Amino acid sequence: MIGGDGIGPEVVAEGLKVLDAVVGEGVVTTTHHDLGASHWQRTGEVLPDSVLAELAQADAILLGAVGAAPGATDVPSGLLERGLLLKLRFAFDHYVNLRPSRLFPGSVTPLSPAVTGKGEIDFVVVREGTEGLYVGNGGVVRAGTPAEIATEVSINTAYGVERVVRDAFERATRRRNKVTLVHKHNVLVHAGGLWQRIFATVAAEYPQVTTDYLHVDAATIFLVQDPARFDVIVTDNLFGDILTDLAAAVTGGIGLAASGNINPSGAYPSMFEPVHGSAPDIAGQQIADPTATILSVALLLDHLGLTEEAARVEKAVLADLAERSGQRRTGEVGDAIAALL
Ligand code: NAD
Ligand code: IPM
Ligand code: MN
Repeated sequence: MIGGDGIGPEVVAEGLKVLDAVVGEGVVTTTHHDLGASHWQRTGEVLPDSVLAELAQADAILLGAVGAAPGATDVPSGLLERGLLLKLRFAFDHYVNLRPSRLFPGSVTPLSPAVTGKGEIDFVVVREGTEGLYVGNGGVVRAGTPAEIATEVSINTAYGVERVVRDAFERATRRRNKVTLVHKHNVLVHAGGLWQRIFATVAAEYPQVTTDYLHVDAATIFLVQDPARFDVIVTDNLFGDILTDLAAAVTGGIGLAASGNINPSGAYPSMFEPVHGSAPDIAGQQIADPTATILSVALLLDHLGLTEEAARVEKAVLADLAERSGQRRTGEVGDAIAALL
């Protein structure tokens, strides 16, 4: 367990409450790691090697969120995101960043099928998690001068693209047999070309799967206007980051969006976390929605093969969502879902 910063510890506490409720108190051994902005401020440590080694022994990791307020000046931007979160995703080879989006029955939004007549919204974004613009490849020359040049170079390997595209196709065969590649190959011709070619090669092995391609800008239109068209979306690290906040916003809100950073080989522990961040604007007030973390616990259980327990958590969340009204405190949401179990 890494509660982290802001609302992170508040929502992780509810995730743990639900985990204990579904498997039974004391069945899962949990170790809490105090990491994040305030830990760094106190100790100067972001992620000590000893903690990384301990985390490597876990069956799974549940993380709240890390990072300071976007305008903060007392914590260097990127220190925790790169040094903690991305370090874990890279060290544990979390190449499948799985982000499901569903418009749950009962959530009435302008996108509800009853309003649009367009069918259920139930898709999953398979976001590449170890490459792209996230690798930190680049630098700054002539810093602070009018001639400053900053580069941020995206890395896309055939190895890395193929394995995540293959995962997307495999996933589609267990769902509705459709995969949409999202990129921007009309401009990013080098990386886009690689993604396109590998996508076509893998697609040829899955004749039962329908394929589709969208440039990322157009994908944002369809995510808002016709999200029911999507089943599995596969995309790179940065596009996947942006699309999944949008997907969350159109399917019930960021407070419901769960994710798994998966290492499919099982060589390393996978890590589960809400899509949202530390939400400094509402931290410490017990008003954050812990549902995204609770649904991330369902993904965690499913990943560990506890499929029945995962389904029970999801069912409890659905039941709770259907009867929600008014503002409840973070702890009350966790209590209500735990009680439904
Ligand atoms: P954010 O997701 O933290 O917040 C965006 C908006 O969504 C805010 O208004 C916030 O109050 C709201 N929100 C988020 N989670 C909510 C919840 N559970 N319930 C109700 N409202 C919720 O994004 P940000 O403000 O861009 O980032 C804040 C910090 O978090 C930054 O330091 C960023 O780097 C970090 N971050 C961390 C992670 C992570 O650890 N996985 C993810 C995203 C951002
Ligand atoms: C997320 C976050 C992270 C990302 C940041 C905090 C590194 O936005 O998990 O979506 O960009 O992946
Ligand atoms: Mn994000």
